[in-house]
Amino acid sequence: MTTKIILPESELPTHWYNIVPDLPAPPPPVLHPGTHQPVGPDDLAPLFPMDLILQEVATDKFIEIPEEIREIYRLWRPSPLYRAHGLERLVGGPARIYYKYEGVSPVGSHKPNTAVAQAFYNAKAGVQKLSTETGAGQWGSALAFACSLFGLECEVYMVRASYDQKPYRKALIETFGATIHPSPSTNTNYGRSVLDADPDTPGSLGIAISEAVEVAASNENVKYSLGSVLNHVLMHQTIIGEEALKQLAMVDETADVVIGCAGGGSNFAGLAFPFVREKIAGNMDPVIRAVEPAAAPSLTRGSYQFDFGDTGQMTPLVKMHTLGHPFVPEPIHAGGLRYHGMAPLVSHLKELGLIEAKSLHQTETFEKAVRFARVEGIVPGPEPTHAIAEAMNEAERAKEDGEEKVILFNLSGHGHFDMGAYQAFFNGELVDYEHPQDRIDAAMSRVPVVAQ
Ligand SMILES: Cc1ncc(COP(=O)(O)O)c(C=O)c1O
Repeated sequence: MTTKIILPESELPTHWYNIVPDLPAPPPPVLHPGTHQPVGPDDLAPLFPMDLILQEVATDKFIEIPEEIREIYRLWRPSPLYRAHGLERLVGGPARIYYKYEGVSPVGSHKPNTAVAQAFYNAKAGVQKLSTETGAGQWGSALAFACSLFGLECEVYMVRASYDQKPYRKALIETFGATIHPSPSTNTNYGRSVLDADPDTPGSLGIAISEAVEVAASNENVKYSLGSVLNHVLMHQTIIGEEALKQLAMVDETADVVIGCAGGGSNFAGLAFPFVREKIAGNMDPVIRAVEPAAAPSLTRGSYQFDFGDTGQMTPLVKMHTLGHPFVPEPIHAGGLRYHGMAPLVSHLKELGLIEAKSLHQTETFEKAVRFARVEGIVPGPEPTHAIAEAMNEAERAKEDGEEKVILFNLSGHGHFDMGAYQAFFNGELVDYEHPQDRIDAAMSRVPVVAQ
């Protein structure tokens, strides 16, 4: 009975997968916020180095991972695929459950898969410093780590609610030599305007993105780095799914259900896109499902339309499922899932019917995550508790139906810096928030109308 399915380092994938050329319909263009016309590479040049801009619009199906990046990936990759024997016994029934564990990375999540790549291309372009936002702190830690490897400075804007909930993420980010500010901050024009209007705001990823973009746009040697949402970020994460396909093949299994939690969409896409490729090619037919919090339900309750990626309206307009860029979500503990939109490629796949989406409440996800921890030994980050809960629900359904399903989910990170959330759960203090429709309507009324 194998528990850890381990790929040797020699089997580390050599290419990232770009899903765009395989799609039955091309994704909508990215639009300039002023003209509403498609943006060109030059429009993005103040924020990103040209290698990443070219990856953003790439049409090749596979893009080679430079050896310098593969060398760093080998610090923790290939990551293990676990057969969840303990969880299977707990649930009972015929389902076989597997999870890809990304918590083995130096900072504890999938985020370094793209942070290392982004730092590499920025360093190659001679950039001095990267600015970024972070929700849960996982992304900020990942970029701080990656910047330290390539001699780049790093400035992190961390959403206030998470900054207060997780003080040790700050220390970790500083260990890697980066500077960190709670967002909104008094460092930027946008941060000051938000604080003037609401000094007690918990902040949001949309606000923190605006601050980090402002810093990059107004400083010559600073570029901006985003931890999710963009095409090139999702592409860097596909190494997860490429490894998982090989690992399942090693034990002669084919996934029937593929599950990932979704904030901006990067860990979900990272696991799912290679499986979507196989589905489109007719090689397998898994159900592929993104799980989001009921407090930030962009894929399940948002509108599919053009909107800003940030609250301060500084980014281009992208077509995605959105709750409206002014959205400030309740301070749920899955800080990395508190985002108003969803990656345009994930949104497009949902519209094409290639993936499905579901939302869950945090008391359910924590309750199931604790049961998972007690049989599998891993304390998950608050974000992947959503994937775990849905995998357990799926296994329960398989039990009721007597179906021998193979369930695969992404355990995108550990929760060792999130014990405050577990403490709140044990104290009975965790509250469920159903995002009210009138707040969605109010935020959506401020989304620009784009004739497309
Ligand atoms: C461990 C973990 N999982 C998931 C997410 C959600 O982001 P994404 O949807 O881009 O994977 C985050 C974001 O911070 C995270 O830290």
